[in-house]
Amino acid sequence: CGIVGYVGSQSALDVVMAGLKRLEYRGYDSAGVAVLADGGLASAKRAGKLVNLEKELVDRPLPSGSTGIGHTRWATHGGPTDANAHPHLDNAGRVAVVHNGIIENFALLRAELAERGHDLASETDTEVVSHLLAEEFSSCADLAEAMRLVCRRLEGAFTLVAVHADEPDVVVGARRNSPLVVGVGEGEAFLASDVAAFIAHTRSALELGQDQVVELRRDGVTVTGFDGSPAEVSSYHVDWDASAAEKGGYDYFMLKEIAEQPKAVADTLLGRIDTSGALTLDEVRISAPELREVDKVVIVACGTAFHAGLIAKYAIEHWTRIPCEVELASEFRYRDPILDARSLVIAISQSGETMDTLMALRHAREQGSRVLAICNTNGSTIPRESDAVLYTHAGPEVAVASTKAFLTQLVACYLVALYLGQVRGTKWGDEIRAVIRDLAEISGAVERVLETMEPVRALARSLAGKKTVLFLGRHVGYPVALEGALKLKELAYMHAEGFAAGELKHGPIALIEDDLPVVVVVPSPRGRSVLHDKIVSNIQEIRARGARTIVIAEEGDEAVVPYADHLIRIPVTPTLLQPLVATVPLQVFACELATARGNEVDQPRNLAKSVTVE
Ligand code: G6P
Repeated sequence: CGIVGYVGSQSALDVVMAGLKRLEYRGYDSAGVAVLADGGLASAKRAGKLVNLEKELVDRPLPSGSTGIGHTRWATHGGPTDANAHPHLDNAGRVAVVHNGIIENFALLRAELAERGHDLASETDTEVVSHLLAEEFSSCADLAEAMRLVCRRLEGAFTLVAVHADEPDVVVGARRNSPLVVGVGEGEAFLASDVAAFIAHTRSALELGQDQVVELRRDGVTVTGFDGSPAEVSSYHVDWDASAAEKGGYDYFMLKEIAEQPKAVADTLLGRIDTSGALTLDEVRISAPELREVDKVVIVACGTAFHAGLIAKYAIEHWTRIPCEVELASEFRYRDPILDARSLVIAISQSGETMDTLMALRHAREQGSRVLAICNTNGSTIPRESDAVLYTHAGPEVAVASTKAFLTQLVACYLVALYLGQVRGTKWGDEIRAVIRDLAEISGAVERVLETMEPVRALARSLAGKKTVLFLGRHVGYPVALEGALKLKELAYMHAEGFAAGELKHGPIALIEDDLPVVVVVPSPRGRSVLHDKIVSNIQEIRARGARTIVIAEEGDEAVVPYADHLIRIPVTPTLLQPLVATVPLQVFACELATARGNEVDQPRNLAKSVTVE
């Protein structure tokens, strides 16, 4: 969910609505706002996307005030209806609360409130908080203190922001687990789940820690623990500006983000390769002796980031000879994984807020393992709770389906693999140096792929009526196939599956029927040519059974030509780096297919960009 709070001298409604627009990627089932005005509290909320709320505000304008909060929701408790949308008010309509997360003991609290005569209107866990806040405020007349008292009674993961009509120039926030950042301006202050919400007003931000309550006033910000003790907060400067979070002439954020990939890749490499061609990852604050001690790498991640992890395994095991496991973060801690101080756990997350990944890394740290985060969001929870972080420099990614963040996660994974190899000195020293050189050139290769995408778009449009598309790959091409299928599911709502090409004969080949589109990611014919030859056979097998083959192959690979109904060329790259170029056509393909099918590209149904519940 996306949360915004504002106190200052501007129209709170304008600031909050503009902020919500920038946070809509976090959830778009419903949206709502509340402002303090004329000694009272006014609110509006609507199921559906933010435009529904905008329409509502035109039909029934709210009075103008300079303190307000807003919310855009991804439903957990209670369906996406008007009544369940946030903010939630108490019975007197004096308190408004917005919330992200899940309050686990809400049923008990709700029953207690009902017994005390409260009338709860929605099915949400959030509403109990507004009633509890109203009760506490009636005795202490201090919203921040009321919030602390309430938070001490809540179980679960939550971020809350509230206003009270009796404290017209105050916004109070509380944070446990899910993100909340403070923006500090001149005579104004902001609260939001992501700096994107207030970046147009200030680039000065404060990170709130776990279990902290913040009180925002025009002239200052006070942060305490849930117990009222003063809290230390660190401030930082946001190093990108508002234009980075806007569409900049593209129809969709996703198109813009696909186009930004060469720069994102180059930015992620910037300053990390020294003049002698060696890697310098000073920010990885895990010492070389400690890295030499590592006897196992475990990667945890979700969704697209998980696919980056699957590719990283090939690189890490090859260049470092350290065994590497990759696991879906949501499965990890529940199977009692074997971890100790010599295990290096790598948590990959664009947002740095994915709850499954956060819980996995906490579990790893409890077992004494060191955790390295690969993350795109400065100051977010996952890097904060890790021993070290390697930031990807993709800039803000807004479209729900991840593109540029994925490519930069791959770059970061390669950097870690090569760095581990460099530090530990394996027999692959020469190869490692050569790959570092190739990596420095890879941004240009991504650029070249982007220049040749028109036939891919035309092909996608021609397949808009299909029901199923299959994806095949071998070696690092296998996770690329999985990612291609995931993109298509997310965006085109089509049945799409990725398979290891060698596994075809063990089942999936039964799915092949006349004119079924099958995308095949072909490894380079150079290097491990045996892989290449095997996949060429696989293409022949499926084509003989009627499949329409869409072949992604390196420039100059002539062996595939006779069997490709459609051929997509990618530049020559070292085998392990091929995913950086091979994924790009699949992103373009899915985006164009979604458009052709009339789907919402940036905000696919049922999905959220940052899933802060388990
Ligand atoms: C959600 C998004 C995916 C993303 C995944 C992991 O499911 O819809 O696009 O890959 O979360 O997100 P993270 O921020 O941890 O990389």
